[in-house]
Amino acid sequence: MVNIKNSWNKIAHDYVRQYDISTGTIHYGPLCPGEDKLHLLGNLRRKKVLELGCGAGQNAVALAKQGAKVTAIDLSERQIEQAMVLADQERVAIDFFVSDISKLPDIPSASIDLAISSCSIAFVKDFESSFREAFRTLKPGGTFVLSDMHPLQYILDGGKGEMSFNHIFPHEPFLLKWSWDFRDRNGNSSTPFQHYLRSLSTYHNALVKAGFTVEKMLEPKATLNSPHKGFSKEIWKEYKYIASHLPVTYIMISKKPR
Ligand SMILES: C[S@@+](CC[C@H](N)C(=O)[O-])C[C@H]1O[C@@H](n2cnc3c(N)ncnc32)[C@H](O)[C@@H]1O
Repeated sequence: MVNIKNSWNKIAHDYVRQYDISTGTIHYGPLCPGEDKLHLLGNLRRKKVLELGCGAGQNAVALAKQGAKVTAIDLSERQIEQAMVLADQERVAIDFFVSDISKLPDIPSASIDLAISSCSIAFVKDFESSFREAFRTLKPGGTFVLSDMHPLQYILDGGKGEMSFNHIFPHEPFLLKWSWDFRDRNGNSSTPFQHYLRSLSTYHNALVKAGFTVEKMLEPKATLNSPHKGFSKEIWKEYKYIASHLPVTYIMISKKPR
């Protein structure tokens, strides 16, 4: 069984350098337009924002630069270390916590205006508990913005310039095991990874079950002009065919009823 915390700890340093994510705006996922283009979040000044699965902190920093009071949480100590260095470099104050986002005992109920989670939920086994925690911690009327890689990107393969199937459609979610390979000055490293392949309806229905009203879903056309800069260059070469035919990232915007 892969220990996902250990895997993220192992690749944190290489990941942050290779994927080169901008802090100039909020990002939603690979090859996806950023908040500067999509305008989904409104005025963030003095808003209390909770980031679930913050990784190396680029979104937390981008949110804080827009005046939000940010609490950011990640399972991996090494990712949080990277995030703290980034926040120092960018001279913003952010509360970082190491925690599994399925349980957030340190975050008071009804204290948050906006919860955001980008490219993390597929790694979380008990994602339904994460949605319940997002719901609990949000104020009535608060917003939860969930984004991640689109499941079609795993189901279909377009590497050879034509579509073929890698996996069946996840009518029942299943675990994908793979390895993340990095080449750096110390040579090659290969780290075992896993994530859950789930359909968009699985996420949609779990959000509704947690109490949310899902207000909007987006499946933006892939663009190279994404704040996910390093990923864009890399993925575009390898996945040009599939990325130009199918959405790479999905975004779901939900509200906690007043
Ligand atoms: C692909 S990174 C995304 C980071 C960031 N949100 C971004 O978009 O750049 C996924 C992150 O999810 C974190 N993660 C995975 N499972 C988690 C869990 N159960 N609770 C909290 N964080 C988790 C990992 O440690 C990793 O930093």
